[in-house]
Amino acid sequence: MKKLFIKTYGCQMNVYDSARMAELLAPIGFCSSATPDDADMIILNTCHIREKAAEKLYSELGRLKKLKDERKLTIAVAGCVAQAEGQEIMARAPQVDIVVGPQSYHRLPEMIARTARCGGQTLETEFPVLEKFDALPKGEGPGSTSAFLTVQEGCDKFCSFCVVPYTRGPEYSRPVAQIEEEAARLVARGARELTLLGQNVNAYRGEGPDSKMWSLAKLLGRLANIDGLARLRYMTSHPRDMSDDLIAAHHDLVQLMPYLHLPVQSGSNRILKAMNRGHSVDDYRRLVDRIRTTRPDIALSSDFIVGFPGESDVDFAATLALVRDVGFAQAYSFKYSRRPGTPAAAAHKQIPDDVKEERLRKLQLVLGEQRAAFDAASVGRVIDVLFEKPGRRARQAIGRTPYLQPVHVENAAAYIGEVRPVHIDAVFPNSLKGTLVSARQEAIDH
Ligand code: SAH
Ligand code: SF4
Ligand code: F3S
Repeated sequence: MKKLFIKTYGCQMNVYDSARMAELLAPIGFCSSATPDDADMIILNTCHIREKAAEKLYSELGRLKKLKDERKLTIAVAGCVAQAEGQEIMARAPQVDIVVGPQSYHRLPEMIARTARCGGQTLETEFPVLEKFDALPKGEGPGSTSAFLTVQEGCDKFCSFCVVPYTRGPEYSRPVAQIEEEAARLVARGARELTLLGQNVNAYRGEGPDSKMWSLAKLLGRLANIDGLARLRYMTSHPRDMSDDLIAAHHDLVQLMPYLHLPVQSGSNRILKAMNRGHSVDDYRRLVDRIRTTRPDIALSSDFIVGFPGESDVDFAATLALVRDVGFAQAYSFKYSRRPGTPAAAAHKQIPDDVKEERLRKLQLVLGEQRAAFDAASVGRVIDVLFEKPGRRARQAIGRTPYLQPVHVENAAAYIGEVRPVHIDAVFPNSLKGTLVSARQEAIDH
């Protein structure tokens, strides 16, 4: 038995891909290892989204070179840096044996065989996405309570700051039947929650069993029929693709969680236009209003970029104003990072780093306050929690609310894999603490 260590960077789609790579290599004798120390093969599944993310690869490769000098080791670089800089990686890092892009990793077994047979470096960075999903193995054995399922890949939006359309290729949606089969299998292996993934998941348009094109809303409706599936989520969505039927699904499907990641990036029309986002600030506000009217208990999260080329103090103030008006339960915010090959990288008015830093600090302050207020508002309420794993203490379990907040609950270990009502007692910076409603009831009865 050989040992495989996979290190995953970047988004959930990479998390999904890493799990598929592990399944793909199991039949050829690799079992997963938790550390790189005794691994026979190491895969770095990389992210190219910001400069810092991409730099991590080369520092990690430096560390791995030392390991490889001491013993036999196969090193593979997968993911979005592999796609964007495959040739450069091979030239800069001769210790790398295999470079494989996000749409061709199903070919890993034959690439490993070729490396073992002939030595040298092997590269695959084509986009045979159709073939990939057909070639992926069907996972076996017990799985996690909450699972990811990629339903859509790639992006045709070409926001002017973003590398994803180049690293992941054009939009592709998997057929409904293939997704349904994978979903049913995940549920049979213990999943109670599925998060449908896509770079632009709400642009999903996949072939249905009736040979017509199905929307994401229709797909969600179909998956909601799977027995034993308690919760459905999807991410990441683009404001432009929030169709009426998808908004209605938040009202109609009890399994669909009232939590939506809907990145807006900026609150300035001028900047949104320069970003090529294809919608205005008012479009976003109106969309949020419609979603909230349809599903009043929905909570929103978003992504923001500060210091996009040309962003003035006035533009930034507009972002803060939008944040204050909309109110987010959670959000990610980033300093604009110049990515080679994207249109914004060539823009003249790049913003100095200290300005970006200061804007990020201000924005994160407001977002942090909103998040704390959102968490604090759960105290004293009874909220459904899906228990996912044991906690550190005996009989303690950790679960999540519909809003993805982690909750620690004593004496709940027996409920892992189940949804139970929990009274929220206290809030900490990164989690909540609660008591099972049944346990509280017993305490009152006695
Ligand atoms: N498909 C998703 C986002 C994928 S990338 C969407 O359209 O919203 C995740 C987030 O990274 C983006 O929402 C954006 O906020 C951030 N991001 C992407 N490129 C970036 C760059 N060049 N600099 C800084 N942040 C970036
Ligand atoms: Fe990138 Fe824009 Fe596509 Fe999102 S929609 S992946 S930000 S190009
Ligand atoms: Fe990163 Fe690629 Fe995901 S660039 S964010 S790993 S799609």
